[in-house]
Amino acid sequence: MKKLVVLTGSGVSSESGLKTFRDSGGLWENFDVMEVASYAGWLKNMELVLKFYNDRRAQLKNAVPNMAHDILVELEQYFDVQIITQNVDNLHERAGSKNVLHLHGILTQARSCEVPDLIYDIGYNPINPGDKCEKGFQLRPNIVWFGEAVPAIEQAALITAEAEIFVVIGTSMVVYPAAGLIDYVPKNCPIFLIDPNDVAVPIYRHIHFIREKAGTGVIQLKDKLISDHQRL
Ligand code: OAD
Repeated sequence: MKKLVVLTGSGVSSESGLKTFRDSGGLWENFDVMEVASYAGWLKNMELVLKFYNDRRAQLKNAVPNMAHDILVELEQYFDVQIITQNVDNLHERAGSKNVLHLHGILTQARSCEVPDLIYDIGYNPINPGDKCEKGFQLRPNIVWFGEAVPAIEQAALITAEAEIFVVIGTSMVVYPAAGLIDYVPKNCPIFLIDPNDVAVPIYRHIHFIREKAGTGVIQLKDKLISDHQRL
């Protein structure tokens, strides 16, 4: 099976009712990113940061995967699909995708502030001030904040370098290092991009731009990939 690597951002979950970050009405319009998604913000106001992610987690509990998530699962019948997501929701997994790598962490886990390897599944429960790891340190969301290292990026780069088809869905491609993954896509590998709006992508690569929302766009992608697949 050909290796199909899919890089997703918040736009893929938009039709599940979860907000994107930088669109009009997006999360960063109502919250100061450095207050709620940085270690400096955490030190300044832990309660605010915990509430921000507790609210996201509670909302995620009631969200369901949409058509785009579902079709990416169907594509596993034809391709070796690997998803690399910037999203902290678990909708790809809940749809049934087998291979999902989270670059920015996941809402359903907490981790120790002082011992990063101590990670706990918390489902949709809140993290409260005073909730501690087994070593007695405060728990925080297992989310990569601005200014922090992205531990999964090397693995993501290795996966991307083996892509035979590369697809980008619903990300503005402005946050690094995730956005830089496109530079690892092999030269002859076709790149598809699904987004209703313009996206910052390198001009030196030919990109098949499907200017649609994720659900409709992924249906078009599936039809194209499967007809190409059957022609081979
Ligand atoms: P952005 O808000 O920057 O970009 C969302 C993208 O989704 C835009 O290109 C939109 O045009 C597109 N979009 C909107 N609705 C869509 C739909 N229905 N279908 C498809 N696309 C749609 O969000 P991200 O690129 O995901 O990081 O943001 C990247 C990172 O910045 C996030 O992981 C988060 C954020 O700060 C951290 O918190 C560390």
